[in-house]
Amino acid sequence: MAPVVSTLQERLRDALVRIGLEPDERPQVSATTDPRFGDYQTNVAMTYAKRAKQNPRALAGRIVAALQVSDLGPAPEIAGPGFINFRLGADFLARQVAEMARDERLGVPVASPAKTIIIDFSSPNIAKPMHVGHIRSTILGDTLARVSRFLGHQVVTDNHLGDWGTQFGKVIYGWKNLLDHDALEQHPVAELVRIYREADAAAADPRVLDRCREELVKLQQGDPENLRIWQECVSRSMQEFSRVYQLLDVHFDEQLGESFYHARLAALTAALQKEGVLEESDGALVYWAHSLSDDPFIIRKSDGGFGYAATDLATLFYRLERWQPDAIWYVVGAPQQLHFKQLFSLARRLGVKIDLEHVAFGSILGEDRKLMRTRSGDSVSLDELLEEAIERAAAPVAEKNPDLPAAERRRIAEIVGLGAVKYAELSQHRLTDYVFSWDKLLSLHGNTAPYLQNAYVRSRAIFRKLPGTFAFPDTLAFTAEAELKLAKALVQFADAVPAILDGFRPNVLANYLYELAAVFHVFYEECPVLSAPEPQRAVRLALCETFGRVTRAGLGLLGIGVPERM
Ligand code: ARG
Repeated sequence: MAPVVSTLQERLRDALVRIGLEPDERPQVSATTDPRFGDYQTNVAMTYAKRAKQNPRALAGRIVAALQVSDLGPAPEIAGPGFINFRLGADFLARQVAEMARDERLGVPVASPAKTIIIDFSSPNIAKPMHVGHIRSTILGDTLARVSRFLGHQVVTDNHLGDWGTQFGKVIYGWKNLLDHDALEQHPVAELVRIYREADAAAADPRVLDRCREELVKLQQGDPENLRIWQECVSRSMQEFSRVYQLLDVHFDEQLGESFYHARLAALTAALQKEGVLEESDGALVYWAHSLSDDPFIIRKSDGGFGYAATDLATLFYRLERWQPDAIWYVVGAPQQLHFKQLFSLARRLGVKIDLEHVAFGSILGEDRKLMRTRSGDSVSLDELLEEAIERAAAPVAEKNPDLPAAERRRIAEIVGLGAVKYAELSQHRLTDYVFSWDKLLSLHGNTAPYLQNAYVRSRAIFRKLPGTFAFPDTLAFTAEAELKLAKALVQFADAVPAILDGFRPNVLANYLYELAAVFHVFYEECPVLSAPEPQRAVRLALCETFGRVTRAGLGLLGIGVPERM
């Protein structure tokens, strides 16, 4: 079965050829939001009329006359300046839903050609807390990985940890002079952050600053004690990060931090110098992309040290060698836009041809619309935020299901609470700064994960009341308007999933699922299922089942689970 949009595109291409025009690979077609304009609409007549200097409505007429779509529904209509509106017929929808239900992939086609894609995401820094800024990267990156894999791409997820850098001078100084061992056992990341901050404050005294620098130099020269301390900071931070990843069900194929590339930087710099792409500037070696910025991209600092830029370039070359990828996607906040533009510019200059994308995102705001912070003024740590989500979700679950065992209730609270946090992120366009509001994101009404999960639970509850098992009918005949509307919404799944990768927009899928759930609720109110006579009962059960599968699969691609009750 082909998704409706692809089918219409193919038919449009044929029609354009028939009337002597040269069609684009994918003529524009989209599902409409207003049923007055049919179910799908295209503006090709207007686009082609402009190119061929013809009257758009007249051209629309010729296209419609040449279109062969009688198997899909009634004849298309021309509207306004030359839109062509398509309506899907009940027979076509019935075949499409039945085929979709027979398909494990629910009609979503496998991408062709399959690509190898590296997704660099999450990438928190060692001895710094993972904060809500990292939540966006982690959730967004994970979804892009899930969707790409589902579409058949080869995906490598890589957590590019900030585990090497000048902060370690202060961290090691702090470790040797300020460490509270009990606190380290209790809250390792918080204690590392504390000693870093205190060392940083103490470094206002030039003597302390010198000692921090010495510790850094010793680390870089391989001093065994400092290396051991560094290693311990890394492993303790990683333990805490891993807990977060486990809660979020996020997995990495690679976790190669910045330190992994350290040994390559000198040789890389020499090679860049040989290529003649670097210039000297105040003792530093830099790459200039003047068209992008007046700030240089600093490969080697004036003190001889290497930083973020050099490491990222080395990382890029390592990845090319190791995976021969077709694309690398960097899921990193919008403030790093210039860094990536410069990195990509230098890579191009060095002959890198693959697709490089900075998948940027905005900030999360508190309800005061300022950057989200705790009362003490620190950014909120991710594990506390997730625990709070689970706790808040637990209360209504306990209230509605007092007889469920505690472990089962905790599991549902995790699915609902973590799902709500993820969905709040994914239902927004990634570049939007969104306001984080517990009440809003946990609400059972509105565009939230709990709302979708609840719709799923409703659809499943019907099957628990069903005596025996349900056999999906071979053919479906829709009779009620609400059935048709639900069928129309269901078949859009096959187009919604691939659309995510077009501009990296999981919100397309989230909003699709939301609209689908709204249509399901109308169906549920208007169409009795179990009390309906056959064959209507089987048709309605088939719709409920397909709705449940689409919702579960769709939320699954967003990394969100569904409970069977809540
Ligand atoms: N560790 C960095 C930060 O927290 C993000 C790294 C992103 N990935 C990269 N290849 N630069 O800001």
